[in-house]
Amino acid sequence: MAGRIREDDVSHVRHASRIDDVVGDYVQLKNAGGGQKKGLCPFHDEKSPSFHVTPSKGFYHCFGCQTGGDVISFVMKIEHMSFTEAVERLADRMNYQLTYDEGHTRTGGSDRKRLLEANRLAALFYQEQLQQAGPAQVGREFLQSRGFDKSAAAKFGVGYAPDEWDALSKHLKSRGFTDSELELAGLTKAGQRGYIDRFRNRLVWPIHEISGDVVGFGARRLSEDDTGPKYLNTPETPVYKKSALLYGLEMAKKEIAKKRQVVVVEGYTDVMAVHLSGIETAVATCGTAFGDEHIRILRRLLMDDDAFRGEVIFTFDGDEAGQKAALRAFDDDQKFVSQTFVAVEERGLDPCELRIKDGDGAVRDLIARRVPLFEFAMKSKLKLFNLTTAEGRVSALKECAPLVNKIRDRALRPEYVRSLAGWIGVDIELVREAVGRGSREGNLATRQANQHSMEKSSPTYLLEREVLKSIVQYPELALSWQELTPDDFADPGLQNLFHVISEKKEHLASLLTLVADTAPELAALITELTVEPMRATEPTTHFIESLIARLHEVSVTRKISELKSSLQRLDPESTDYAPAFAELIGLEALRRSLHEKGLGEALL
Ligand code: CTP
Ligand code: MN
Repeated sequence: MAGRIREDDVSHVRHASRIDDVVGDYVQLKNAGGGQKKGLCPFHDEKSPSFHVTPSKGFYHCFGCQTGGDVISFVMKIEHMSFTEAVERLADRMNYQLTYDEGHTRTGGSDRKRLLEANRLAALFYQEQLQQAGPAQVGREFLQSRGFDKSAAAKFGVGYAPDEWDALSKHLKSRGFTDSELELAGLTKAGQRGYIDRFRNRLVWPIHEISGDVVGFGARRLSEDDTGPKYLNTPETPVYKKSALLYGLEMAKKEIAKKRQVVVVEGYTDVMAVHLSGIETAVATCGTAFGDEHIRILRRLLMDDDAFRGEVIFTFDGDEAGQKAALRAFDDDQKFVSQTFVAVEERGLDPCELRIKDGDGAVRDLIARRVPLFEFAMKSKLKLFNLTTAEGRVSALKECAPLVNKIRDRALRPEYVRSLAGWIGVDIELVREAVGRGSREGNLATRQANQHSMEKSSPTYLLEREVLKSIVQYPELALSWQELTPDDFADPGLQNLFHVISEKKEHLASLLTLVADTAPELAALITELTVEPMRATEPTTHFIESLIARLHEVSVTRKISELKSSLQRLDPESTDYAPAFAELIGLEALRRSLHEKGLGEALL
C-alpha cells in the first residue's frame, strides 16, 4: 500500500485537472451559456440534461439528483474508486508525478493502475506475437478469411495468444508483475501446477474502456482441438465490468456524438467490418446481452441540446434473435424506443459476412435500410399470418392491433394504425376500431374472427384438428401433409396454424419456441395439439395418410359446391363458363381418387 498522497499534490491535481475534460470522457457536454456546460447526468436516468459543469469553479452539480462535487469526487463516484485511486487516476491523466508522505513511494501503486498496465503490456505482447512465424500463421489466416488485412488488424490492435502454457505470464513477470496481479487482471488462471495463461492459441481483441485503457480481451478459438468455447472473454475483474463495456466504443465515441447514431452489432469481427465499411459508429457488447448499463452509456453520448435525439440501430444475425429482441420492446420501458431501429440482413448474414460477400457498400446499405423498432416488431408478427386470405387478415389484425395500444408514446399511434392497415391490407377504419376498443370488451377483430370460426364440434373441425395433431405429434408418419394448403382448412385458427407450420417446416421440432414470444395464442394452440391424445391409440402411417386424404377430400368437396353455385349463375355461353366447367370436372376426379385413399367419416 502506498502512503498518503501529499496535500500539496492533491490540491495541485484538483486544480490542474480540467473538470469539463474529465467529465467529457463520460458525458457529452454542450455549452449552456454563462460559462457553464451541461449534459445528461451519468448518475441517474434522465431525458433532458440537468447535469451542469462549471469549469471556472471546478464543480459539477446535477439538478435532477442533487449529486455534486469537484473533479476528484466525480472520478470517485463514476469509477467507484477510493479517494487515493481517483487522485492517482487524475495525476496519470496529466502525467504528474505524485509524492507520498512518510517516505512511501508509488511503487506498488493502486490495483487499478497495475491492472491497466498489465493489460496494456499484454495487448502489445499479443500484437507482437501475431507477427511471429509459426503457429501465429493460423491467426493471420483467420483474419484474412474474414476479410481483414494487416492494417485492419493493426487498427484494432488484434493479436495472437501463443499456444503455450505461460508465454504471457513469463513475459509480464519479467516486467515485475506478480502471479496474484496477473490472476486479478484475468490474464492467467490457476492450473493444476501453478498459474497458466487464460488465452492460449487464440486470436485476441483488446477491449478498451471509453477512456481508451485496455481492460481485457475477447479471444477466439483457432483450433478444432480447442474444447473451450468459440469466444472466451476476460472474467469480471476490478477493471473489466462486462455489463458496462462496449467493444469499439473508444474508437467510435466521437463519431457517435457527432452523427448522433450508434450501430450495435453482435461480434468483434462485425465491429471491425462496419468501421472498415465507413460507418465509424459501431460497437458490440462483450460476451453478454445488451443491457441497461449499455443504454445509459450510449445515451450520454447521444444527447442533443436538450434531449436525447440519436438513433440506436441494432443489427441481428438471425431473424429469430431480432424478432425476440424487438417484441420485448413493447414490454420494456419505452422511454427511448422511438429512437431505436433494426437492420436485418435478409439472408441472415452478419455484417462481417456481408462485407466479405458483397463488399463495403452492402454493409452501408444494410445500415441505411434500418426500420423503426415498432415497425420491425409488427412486421415480424405479421409474417406468421397468411395475409392473402380474409381469415388470415382478420387473425393478423387481432394479434397486432393490441400492439399499437402498447406504444406508450400516443403521438405515434395514429401513424402505426395507418401503417398497419397498409401492411395487412385492410381498411384503415377497421384497424382504428380494433385498436380503439380495449381488449377487455373484446374488439371488433375478435368478434369477426368468431363469426368466421366453425362450430368446434363439427366433424370438419375435428378432422382438421386431428390432421394438425398428427403433423405435430407424428411428423415421421404424416407423409403427404405438404400436399395440403392453408385453404384446405376451414377454421381460421387452424388454418393460420397450418400456414405457420408450412412456412416453418424445416423447424417443426422447435415450432413452439419460434412462436412463443411472437404469437402467444398460436403457441397455446400448438401445446394443446401436441399434448391432446390422437383419436387412434397407435396411429399408423396408413391411418394418418387417410386422415390427410379425407381432409383434402372435404376441402375439395367444399370447393366443388362453391364452383357449382357460381356455375349456376354463369351464362353457359360466356367465355368464363368452359374453364370453370373444366375445373369442376378436374375437382370431381380428384375427389374420387382422394375418397379411395381415405377411410371415410367413420374414422372420427
Ligand atoms: N460470443 C461469445 N461467446 C461465444 C460465442 C460468441 O462471447 N461462445 C460473442 C462474441 O463477442 C462474438 C459474438 O458473440 O464476437 C458473435 O458470435 P458469432 O456470430 O458466433 O461469431 P462471429 O464473430 O460471427 O463468428 P466468426 O468468429 O466465426 O466470424
Ligand atoms: Mn456472427
